[in-house]
Amino acid sequence: MDRVVIFDTTLRDGEQAPGFSMNTMEKLEMARQLARLNVDVIEAGFPISSDEDFEATREVARQVGTLEGAPVICGLSRVGLGDIDRCWEAVKYARRARIHTFVATSDIHLKYKLRKSRAEVLKAAEEAVRHARAYCEDVEFSPEDASRSDFDYMCDVLDAVIGAGARTINIPDTVGYAIPREWGERIARIQERLARHAGRYVLSVHCHNDLGQAVANSLSAIVQGARQVECTINGIGERAGNASLEEIVMALRTRKDLFGVDTRVRSEEIFRTSRLLSHITGVHVQPNKAIVGENAFAHEAGIHQDGVLKEKLTYEIMRPEDIGRPSNKLVLGKHSGRHALAARLKDLGFDLAGPDLDRAFKAFKDLADRKKEVYDEDLMAIVTDEVTQAEAAYELEYLHFISGTGVVPSATVKLRRDGASFQESGVGDGPVDAVLAAIDAITGVKGRLLDFALRAATGGKDAIGEVAVKVDFDGTVVSGKGASTDVIEASARAYLSALNRLVRQGGQRVSKEVGP
Ligand code: KIV
Ligand code: ZN
Repeated sequence: MDRVVIFDTTLRDGEQAPGFSMNTMEKLEMARQLARLNVDVIEAGFPISSDEDFEATREVARQVGTLEGAPVICGLSRVGLGDIDRCWEAVKYARRARIHTFVATSDIHLKYKLRKSRAEVLKAAEEAVRHARAYCEDVEFSPEDASRSDFDYMCDVLDAVIGAGARTINIPDTVGYAIPREWGERIARIQERLARHAGRYVLSVHCHNDLGQAVANSLSAIVQGARQVECTINGIGERAGNASLEEIVMALRTRKDLFGVDTRVRSEEIFRTSRLLSHITGVHVQPNKAIVGENAFAHEAGIHQDGVLKEKLTYEIMRPEDIGRPSNKLVLGKHSGRHALAARLKDLGFDLAGPDLDRAFKAFKDLADRKKEVYDEDLMAIVTDEVTQAEAAYELEYLHFISGTGVVPSATVKLRRDGASFQESGVGDGPVDAVLAAIDAITGVKGRLLDFALRAATGGKDAIGEVAVKVDFDGTVVSGKGASTDVIEASARAYLSALNRLVRQGGQRVSKEVGP
């Protein structure tokens, strides 16, 4: 069957969006999981944008791109030759490396952003591709803002870059402006215009979701012959996000009859990948999100439940197990040992050993003491919590609070940093406010809580509470997540994980700003 290349840009376009920033360790964790998911290409970063992004891209190339059967590791680069050199420096370690270079081709971008003529941009694009080809065979080119570009001019640029050696031509709907039928027609027309190069390049699309059409546009492009789609896990990305990987993959699989194409993605890794991203970034998936949302497979209406009980096919077009959704079965108990935990975690996609496994085991024992039944979802919550809290600057040592009707909520918090303990108290209009005030008093950094979301990892009154926060630390917006059976402790841990991220990033802005 004809195959569509899945180009995952969670670690680049996804990560670029405010609140989704990831450090090197977190990107590596995600990249390993993307490799298990079996995507074809991982766009690991935009190396020129910052030293952190360079380092993260290089580490993904070194540690994931060198594995047997690893995906292609790609870096993004503007058309400046120095940018391309830097990009190559980062990706060159991978067995299969790709340079993805782009420049805007719409008159709006040329006039207001680049302040360059059409001829200048065409020349820069051609030179950039030629320069990149001197480093590697696998070069991708994107005409940014393609959906608003003059068609003939854009095709002249594409013609020139294919001549210069680009082997993937990616057409981005940068501002999410396109509508499926029109987009599909544009994709068909591009192939007609480039007919003399047929067979020498792979046509790709990269759709943003501003009008909610990203997945529909991607599918429409596939129908018209595109054979690579650029997408992200959970559809994260600039503004309204990018096309969602899981929706595209499952649409192609479920409607094979219609599309007649498939991907190499191991769909049973989808749920785990989605949850890992959500744990790492601290951003919950909306409950009604297609494929991976909490309700995506829940049948509430009586008539639906009745139908599903009689025959699943009545209301289910996919099975939860197709995307690896855990059945919430009881897995481990208080007396389970390290080996049992390690084995179960491996099944869940976490290959832990040494100190990482020690930390996970301690967290598991603490949980098993507090909670009688430990489910897969619980394990995923505590382990991703531990993994993402690693390298913490501040660790929670002690927490006590008083709250209730008729009392002023107050809290005492003890934190550990560099081997020393610090204790402070705070009051607030509720226990969370009081705990965060005590943390602020210790760290001397005042955070403004922009968003706070609490959800139970599983059913049951003794469920683990997962808290996701978005905090503004003096203009820098950082996300964090914490888990505990005590929701006040989970809130403190989420706030601390955001703070730790801020500290690790040296207080830099989270959203990267790179000029044209
Ligand atoms: O949206 C966009 O145009 C991009 C390009 C760099 C491909 O992300
Ligand atoms: Zn984009």
